[in-house]
Order: sequence, then structure tokens, then C-alpha cells
Amino acid sequence: MSEDLLRVAPAGGLVGELNVPGDKSISHRAVMVGALSDDRVTVTGFGASADTLATVDAFRAMGVPIERVGDDGLVIEGVGMRGLRPPDGVIDVRNAGTLMRILPGILAGQSGTFTLDGDESIRRRPMRRIADPLERMGVSIETSEGLPPVTVQGTGAVEPISYRPPVASAQVKSAVLFAGLFAERGVTVVEEAIATRDHTERMLQRAGVPVDRRPGYVGISPVRELVLPEIAVPGDFSSAAPFIAAATILQGSSLTLRDLSINPTRTGMLAVLERMGARVGLFRRRLAAGEPVADIEVRPAELVATNIEAEIVPTLIDELPLMVLLASFARGTTTIRGAGELRVKESDRIATVVELLNTCGGHVTALPDGFEVLGVPHRLRGGRVDAAGDHRIAMLGAIVGVCSQEGVTVEGADALGVSFPDFADRLAAVVA
Ligand code: S3P
Repeated sequence: MSEDLLRVAPAGGLVGELNVPGDKSISHRAVMVGALSDDRVTVTGFGASADTLATVDAFRAMGVPIERVGDDGLVIEGVGMRGLRPPDGVIDVRNAGTLMRILPGILAGQSGTFTLDGDESIRRRPMRRIADPLERMGVSIETSEGLPPVTVQGTGAVEPISYRPPVASAQVKSAVLFAGLFAERGVTVVEEAIATRDHTERMLQRAGVPVDRRPGYVGISPVRELVLPEIAVPGDFSSAAPFIAAATILQGSSLTLRDLSINPTRTGMLAVLERMGARVGLFRRRLAAGEPVADIEVRPAELVATNIEAEIVPTLIDELPLMVLLASFARGTTTIRGAGELRVKESDRIATVVELLNTCGGHVTALPDGFEVLGVPHRLRGGRVDAAGDHRIAMLGAIVGVCSQEGVTVEGADALGVSFPDFADRLAAVVA
């Protein structure tokens, strides 16, 4: 449909200052923890998008009064840890995988029967990864042959477990930790071979939960109440990443991004960019609502190829499509391995990234668990690409556009609304 087309012209650089919406992962968790709190919780910097608003609507449907204040504020009247009630119908998570995977952990401690379903892409997302540990904790949870819809029967008695997830996933870790809050006694432990984003641990700790954190280990003790002070959500590093990529590639760039989350479990892209020769500086480092925050300045650079291995993949999982673009502009061949999880994101991101970049003149080969990328010594040609219903692929297409010779037309650009509704306007404001 024509209103879903985004046409992006080639640019000489990205110049100026930019703020991006509040972090999506933290915004989801702020609503979840706020809803379970005993009191009123105020959220500022909330990243309002289709995904996070699906979480707001889900909790409203379960009886939590949530008021939106301006563009990025929320006032949540917490109903207490066990105060959620089953809604009249199914809980529609829409496209929000984080809601689909974490909410069952919270429902473990509620009374009644809750069914969660979502859009076509959600119905392809594996759910055994949360059903297995929750069943071990005594929660009654049913999937449709391992896929959504999912039905959870709340239980009074959650058993604490010690769990080592077979896949590196913050969503799985979070579901288990939330369920562990409802145990009668005992510590619920998640052991991670590869560290994933730790926003849940940080926010629960802030809400008064005893959290024991050591490398590769997080233990959580049950509590009777959550008390969450005001939450100021920092800018989403994953939404800033497309701008960081373009400003690195385009020779006329000088870009500053303000108030960004620089949680080290999220900023693997910066570590890899440094290896590739990029020029990214961090300033005004501080802590906001228990999360590290900074301003970031990006200058253009000549890039060299590198390799990305499994150990750091979770710290840049959502940025890997952009890493393939950056590798396309680097001297040499870049290999990305250990990223098979990309196949079960909003789209099969190994297939959709390869298709998009090769359509635009790139030289990318799909591997079972990653990519091999041959750097091209000139701008990509450009072309017409399909977002495949995936917001990160839509953003990738737009960024290929500014870095191309002929521009890019993105079909299905409405997918941007999932995490970054005014992405196109903010990009237009900094192109030079
Ligand atoms: C998220 C965790 C990651 C990430 C997703 C958000 C979260 O997914 O890709 O965009 O907020 O916990 P996995 O847990 O499946 O790795």
C-alpha cells in the first residue's frame, strides 16, 4: 500500500543533535513492575510505540489503571503483586515478543486463567523456552505445539528453581525471575553461559527485591511487595544504532545523540565499532534510574572488517542487521557467527538482511547462524526493498538509503511503528 512506502534519498552526512525514544526493553519492564507495585508509579521518558503500548493495554485489561501524560509520561496505579485479574477476552500482545515471553512469568503468581495471543509474526515465535522453566516451577502453562497462543493458569505455589537457559535470552531470564518473586521461599537462580541484557534485575533491585548478582549468575528472593520509585527511561540504544551506523559511514557527518542508555549488556555495537576503526565518543556519563546513560558523538571513519562471535552476540543482537551494513562498507570480509537467534525474531533476520542488502548491491552470504560479508569499496547502489513486517529491517532499509547512490524505497514501512513511530521524521531532521 502506498502509505506504507518510505522513500529515502542518498545523503552526504547526518549532522546535528538527536534524541531517540525511551528504551523499549526498559519501558516494557517499567509498566510491568509499576503494575505490580503497591503504590502509584510515575514513568518519564516512556518510549511510546506499538510494542510498549501493547504492554500498557494488556495491563489495563488486567485491571491496572494507567494514564498517559503527554508524549512520554505514564502514571501507573499499581495493584500489588497478586492484583492482576483475568481480562474478558484474550490478551493481545500484537507484535511484542518481550510481552509475550515475560508476562507468563508474572501471571504465575496471579489467580485465574489468562490467554495470550498476538499477530502473525508472534505466532511463529518459539514459546517452549519459557514454558519449560515455568512448568518446572509448578506453573500450568499451555502452548500450541510450542507456539502462541499461550494459556497460563495462575498458581498460589511457585517453586523456586535453578535454571540454565539453553538459549541466551533476556526474555527467558526475565520470565523465570518474575515467577521467582512469587515463590513461598527459596532463591530462584538463572545461570547464563552468555550474558544478556539485565534491565529486569536492575529494576527489581530498585523496587526493593533482594537480587544476588555475580558473573553468569543472578539469584532472586521472593518478596511480598514491590515499591518502585519514579522511573526515568533513557533513550533506546537500539533506536540510536541506525543513526550511529549512518553517521559512521557518511563522510559529511557530525552527530550527537543525547541521553542514551549505555548499559554494557546492550552496547556491544560500540565495542565492535571500535575494533573496526569507528570514531564514537561517550560524554556526560551518569546513572539514571539505575541504568548507565551518556551522550554519544559520532564522526565518520574508514572501517576495517572484523569478526563477531557468539559470546558478544546478545549485547548487539538487535543491532546485527546494522552490523552487516557497516561490514558492507568495511575493508575486508567480516564473519558473524553464533547468531542463529536472528532466525526467530520478528522476521528471519538472517534471510531478510541478506535479501535486503544484496538487492541494494551488497555482497552478503547467509550462514546457518550468521553472515559472511564482503566489504564493497563504494556506496551501495540502492533499490526497492521489503520490511517483511519487521521494524529493524525497515530501519535498515532506510539507513541503506542514506548510504546509497540511488536511494532506497522501503515497502511496509509502517513496521517502524513497532519501536520508533517517528523514525522517518527524525532521520529527515539530521540528513545533510
Ligand atoms: C529483549 C530481549 C531480546 C531482544 C528483544 C528485547 C528484552 O530478545 O532481541 O528485542 O527486552 O528482553 P531475546 O530475549 O529473545 O534474546
